[in-house]
Amino acid sequence: MTWWQRGIIYQIYPRSFMDSNGDGTGDLPGIISRLDYLEWLGVDAIWISPIFPSPMADFGYDVSDYTSIDPLFGTLDDFDRLLADAHRRGLRVLLDYVPNHTSDRHPWFLESRSSRDNPRRDWYIWRDPSRGGGVPNNWLSAFGGSAWEWDAAIGQYYLHTYVKEQPDLNWTNPEVEAAMLDVLRFWFDRGVDGFRIDALRQVGKDPAFRDNPPNPDWTPDQRPYNSLLPVYSADRPENLEVVRRFREVADAYPDRVLIGELWVPIERLMVYYGVRGVHLPFNFHLITTPWKARAVSALIDQYESALPSGAWPNWVLGNHDRSRVGSRVGPARARVAAMLLLTLRGTPTLYNGDEIGMQDVSIPPDAVRDPFERNVPGRGFGRDPERTPMQWDAGPHAGFSAETPWLPIADDYRTVNVAVERADPRSMLSLHRALIGLRRATPALAVGSYRSIYTDDDLLVYEREAGAYGRREVALNLSGRPRVYRRSGAPARILISTHLDRRDERVAGALALRADEGVVLEPAR
Ligand code: NOJ
Repeated sequence: MTWWQRGIIYQIYPRSFMDSNGDGTGDLPGIISRLDYLEWLGVDAIWISPIFPSPMADFGYDVSDYTSIDPLFGTLDDFDRLLADAHRRGLRVLLDYVPNHTSDRHPWFLESRSSRDNPRRDWYIWRDPSRGGGVPNNWLSAFGGSAWEWDAAIGQYYLHTYVKEQPDLNWTNPEVEAAMLDVLRFWFDRGVDGFRIDALRQVGKDPAFRDNPPNPDWTPDQRPYNSLLPVYSADRPENLEVVRRFREVADAYPDRVLIGELWVPIERLMVYYGVRGVHLPFNFHLITTPWKARAVSALIDQYESALPSGAWPNWVLGNHDRSRVGSRVGPARARVAAMLLLTLRGTPTLYNGDEIGMQDVSIPPDAVRDPFERNVPGRGFGRDPERTPMQWDAGPHAGFSAETPWLPIADDYRTVNVAVERADPRSMLSLHRALIGLRRATPALAVGSYRSIYTDDDLLVYEREAGAYGRREVALNLSGRPRVYRRSGAPARILISTHLDRRDERVAGALALRADEGVVLEPAR
């Protein structure tokens, strides 16, 4: 088993993790100053969302130089220090690779748009207006409106799957491929342990740029992008060729990992596995599945049974693009969700702040930063609420910064913060640390097989087993009422409860679970 199979990944959203220089935005020295915390927490790897030079139209996902560090975050020296310090502690470091698009200020795009015969014209996707005039096809931007932007100077449209400041690269151009693969090599050579690959499903496009068909299931409360089925602009067969190239580069280095950001159905996720795929196609389905025992259990079974042989599973409960788990399911259920994430088979990814129970923060209109919210206001699509600064302590600005942060701090920061929760043996943070420690120390939980034991409307019970290393049973009550689970197995002992009590309690026969309680059991000796 490799480190990325056994390990736990922790996502750092760098703007909001720790500010060392009082400019209100997190930075690399800030992350370095918090490595002690991450080591204490017990995670194995950090994935840092983009830190490269960027005009910040999409907060780093619009890259204007792939092989440097934005001064807001620090310098390449800071990065090297971060990498060395993390490695000294046994922490791996993953970066965010953004192959689908650059910033519109990237020198490549400035050249490309400068004239039709510029050698880099074809590095991006330029099209004439459609025959009747207007946009070349009906493709939509993920952040609202058409995916095409008119460039009056030359009289052509360019494609942008995200905001117009993020023009899509043309991956059918071998020069683009060569330049972008060199980016991977640059960071691998510096010692990074892998990449999370952004917007992977959108990299390949239909060569004929056909119109996407309407989505018959779409309703106006959903994202405008979903009103069409993106069959010609996403999850294309062309993607797999590009992924293969990424993998060839990664395979030239020992022990590296590629994780694909892939919002696709389970059966489509599987296509991205394999020796020519990514190691881990991100599985976001827990984020979108209702918090109901039968639904979650069915999801796990569906996912487990779809995995090709040799494919390693993974699970994600939250990230910088979706409402926080603490707000989606509420604080009590978020504890059960944490137990689920950290006891399922497959690499867990934790989003910074979820481990202390941070909630979405409501953002007043004049504090909105996210371009998605600005493009499609007031519909609840904005991502600022889940991106607010990490709450470190009860001091000014929650210990995140000496000055006013770029996004507001949550009102609950005096009680929901790392310092307070470290000292509280029943806190969400203590629960996370205990679960992480248990997973690390228990082969059955880290790498064992998964078997569903029992599901009803409220309860989800499963077993993890690693041969001679033994088995563990996980019983989760996903409902807000007490439930009794009639165990038929041999007597067992509670290793941990979400309520952080009942340790060592012996269970024979019935297991009473309080509302929103989960337990991990070990066979009684
Ligand atoms: C997915 C990233 O997670 C998101 O934050 C970003 O806006 C888009 N890709 C575009 O890069």
